[in-house]
Amino acid sequence: MNELKLIGPLRQLLTMEALPLKGSLSDSQLQIVEQAGILISEGKILATGPFERLKNDYSKAELYELKGDHVCLPGFIDAHTHICFGGNRANDYALRNSGKTYLEIAKSGGGIWDTVTQTRKAGKAELIKKTTKLANRHLKTGVTTLEVKSGYGLSVDEEIKMLEVIKEANNTIPSDLIATCLAAHMFPKDYVGTKQEYLEELSTCLLPKIKEESLANRIDAFIEESAFTAEDIAPYFSSAKKLGFDITVHADQFTTGGSKVAVDFGAISADHLEASTNEEIKLLAQSNTIATALPGASLGLGCGFTPARKLLDAGATLAIASDHNPGSAPMGDLLTQAAILGAFEKLSNAEVLAGITIRAAAALNLKDRGKLAKGMLADFSLFHTNNYQEILYNQGNLKPCMVWKEGNLVFN
Ligand code: NIG
Ligand code: FE
Repeated sequence: MNELKLIGPLRQLLTMEALPLKGSLSDSQLQIVEQAGILISEGKILATGPFERLKNDYSKAELYELKGDHVCLPGFIDAHTHICFGGNRANDYALRNSGKTYLEIAKSGGGIWDTVTQTRKAGKAELIKKTTKLANRHLKTGVTTLEVKSGYGLSVDEEIKMLEVIKEANNTIPSDLIATCLAAHMFPKDYVGTKQEYLEELSTCLLPKIKEESLANRIDAFIEESAFTAEDIAPYFSSAKKLGFDITVHADQFTTGGSKVAVDFGAISADHLEASTNEEIKLLAQSNTIATALPGASLGLGCGFTPARKLLDAGATLAIASDHNPGSAPMGDLLTQAAILGAFEKLSNAEVLAGITIRAAAALNLKDRGKLAKGMLADFSLFHTNNYQEILYNQGNLKPCMVWKEGNLVFN
C-alpha cells in the first residue's frame, strides 16, 4: 500500500528548484512557496505546493501538522569531508597558532602522516563509532548527505579498511555517506619504492578491488608539491577514468596547478582553490568542473578564503563544503562556515544555500537530491523562523528544529 504523508503548513518552503547550476544568483531567483506542504510517498517527494490545496487533494494522506512558523530547506549536502580518522591533531593547531605553517608541521612529524599513524592503529569498530558520531553531529545541523574520504590509510589494505568502515558506518546512520578513495593524499613515508610505483600499485591493486567490492565510485588526489604533481598523477587518473571512477581533486590549496589537472581530466570537482588566480578561475568557469570552496580549512589554518565571488562572477558552479578533518579543518560545521564565507565573499543567500544543496549534489554527481521537487528524496530540515534570511544571518546559530531523511523524522 502506497502510504502518503503530508507535512505542513510551512511558513516558507525553499525548493531550490529551477536554479541554474552555473554562475551568480540573486535572492529573487529563489522560488519561495508560502504556507506550503510537502507530500511524501515511499521516502520521496510526490508534490510540493500550498498546504491547503494538498490537504484537499490528498485527503487520505497521514497528516503531520506543524504548529508555529517553520522555514523548510533541502537537506544540506557536505560534498567534502574526512570524518573517518583516528586520534586528533590539537597539537598541530596549537603549533600553527604559535607561528608554524601547515607544511612545516607536516615536515616535522605532524600533519597528515600523524593521522595516518593514528588511523592505522585504530580498530575498525573504533573508527566506525567515531565516524558515526561525527556524521550524527552533522545531521543535527541539517546535513543529510556527507561525502567521506579515505586517505589516512595509504596502503592497499589500510585504504580498504577505511572504505569498509565508511560503508559500515553508512549502514548504521540515517544520513548517507558517499565514499571517496583518497589513497593519493600523500606519498606514504613507509612505502618501499618510488612515488610512481606507489601510484601504479594503487591503479593495479587498489582501484579494481574497490570496484569489485563496491566500496566507492569516486577518487581524489592532493595535487601539491608536497604530495603529487600534475605529472605524477596523470597515469593514475587515466587508470581511474578507465575503470569508471569519478575524479575529484584537492586543488590550488597552497600553490596552483591542481585545478588545471582537474579540468584536463574532466574532474567532477576541484576543491580548495584558496590560491587560484584569475587564470584558474577562468579555466574552471569555462569547464564543467565544479569549484568547491572549503571555508573550514581557511578558518582552521587561519588563511584566506577561496575566491568564491570571483568564481561565481566568472560563471563557475560554486559548491561549499566543510572539509571536516582533524588537521586543517577541525570545526566541522557546514552551515556556520557557509554563512561566514558568504559574509567575507559577499555572496547572496541564494548562492550560499545553492552551494550546500543543489550545487553540492552536482559536486557529488547525485541526481536524486539537493532540491525539493517531485521524485527527489524527501530529505529536508525545518528551522523555527518565519523568514529564511534569518538562517544565514544567525551564522550557524539557528539550528534546524527538525531533520527529515527519506520521509522519516530523524532529528527533533
Ligand atoms: O583538505 N590538503 C589536504 N588534505 C586535507 C587535510 C588533511 C589533514 O590535514 O589531515 C585538506 O585540507
Ligand atoms: Fe580535504
